[in-house]
Amino acid sequence: MRARPRRTPALEVRATRTQPLGMPPTRFLRDYWQKRPLLVRGAFAGRHDWLTPNDLAGLACEATALARLVRHDVRRDRWQVRHGPFRAADFARLPKTHWTLLVQDVDKWDADVAALLDAFAFLPSWRIDDVMVSYAVDGGGVGPHLDQYDVFLVQGLGRRRWRIGADAAVPKEFRADVELKLLREFAPTHEWLLEPGDVLYLPPGVPHEGVAVGACLTYSVGMRAPSQAELLLDLAEFLAEPLGEEARYGDPDLRPARHAGEIDAAALARVRRALPLGIQVDDATLSRWFGAFITRYRSALDAAPVARPRRAEALARRLPNSVLLRHPWSRVAWTRHGRGALLFVAGLAYPCAPALAQALCARRAVDGAALAALCRTNAALELLTTLLNAGHWRLAARR
Ligand code: SIN
Ligand code: CO
Repeated sequence: MRARPRRTPALEVRATRTQPLGMPPTRFLRDYWQKRPLLVRGAFAGRHDWLTPNDLAGLACEATALARLVRHDVRRDRWQVRHGPFRAADFARLPKTHWTLLVQDVDKWDADVAALLDAFAFLPSWRIDDVMVSYAVDGGGVGPHLDQYDVFLVQGLGRRRWRIGADAAVPKEFRADVELKLLREFAPTHEWLLEPGDVLYLPPGVPHEGVAVGACLTYSVGMRAPSQAELLLDLAEFLAEPLGEEARYGDPDLRPARHAGEIDAAALARVRRALPLGIQVDDATLSRWFGAFITRYRSALDAAPVARPRRAEALARRLPNSVLLRHPWSRVAWTRHGRGALLFVAGLAYPCAPALAQALCARRAVDGAALAALCRTNAALELLTTLLNAGHWRLAARR
């Protein structure tokens, strides 16, 4: 018997008394969670008046509440964001349309709003971040954007028109002129008018925009999804804390350096041994990180860029009769990288030829004529110009 192909899951369903998601949680998790949007009509039928607009405005005036007021000047397409805490008088001055008040973490302040989370008990509780509540007057919203985490948009009082762009191929760049991360382009593929009690679930990264149709309240149940960078940093701090000062990078097997400043294969192997995590990083990544790390001074001092940047041609003319003196705060190192090299200067990595990296790292004063011979390509000369203009080396007359 041939297996029947599974139908594409519906985008819109109706809740039942026993199934607020319109389906068992197992099916929701299998077909929608982190995969595709879902509109559930009537998910909170008869229980969607957790707050009044006045309750929310009161919360937005609390000193520790995280609140924002977003206004949209439709004619000029300008967005204005103000951060709370607010005063009652701030609300009296607002126009009739096109603004919204958003307050985060309302579940921590209001027991009724916290109880709304019971409906999401099929998710691990630690996965839920907060309930953000927004009050918007007609036309109000935060503009087209996307969130990096899953969100359940629960419609409370009033109605809101949601448009979403389910086309994954659309570019997701942000406008540079707005504090809110608004999408430069928004190509909606679906549109719904949500009534009180309806819920729109959106997985991470789906472009969306909700615009109030008359005054309305929306409850956004947002998930916590730490970025890999955040996880890695926190784990590193956690593991580093109990390590004593004595546990360090060591090199009892050291042999005389062939090229001063080179981070060679033996050094990299010692770095691996010194790392408390048995982390899976390839040599190229490890050496790129280590070179940047080890050339950053622990103090905040740094070379200052020159007041009058020099052009590459001017440098080429002076180079043969000069000596290059390295700034005392500019630490340098280099490592082989494929057929080339990476030169590290004060925490930054610059691709270049091994001979140039070697020459720049060999000693504090480098003979300009020797460097000129190594800077016959435009890229090399440009690099040297960049480094001099950044203040890491300066030209002095040859004695
Ligand atoms: C809102 O409530 O206006 C914004 C919620 C969201 O788009 O995530
Ligand atoms: Co959003």
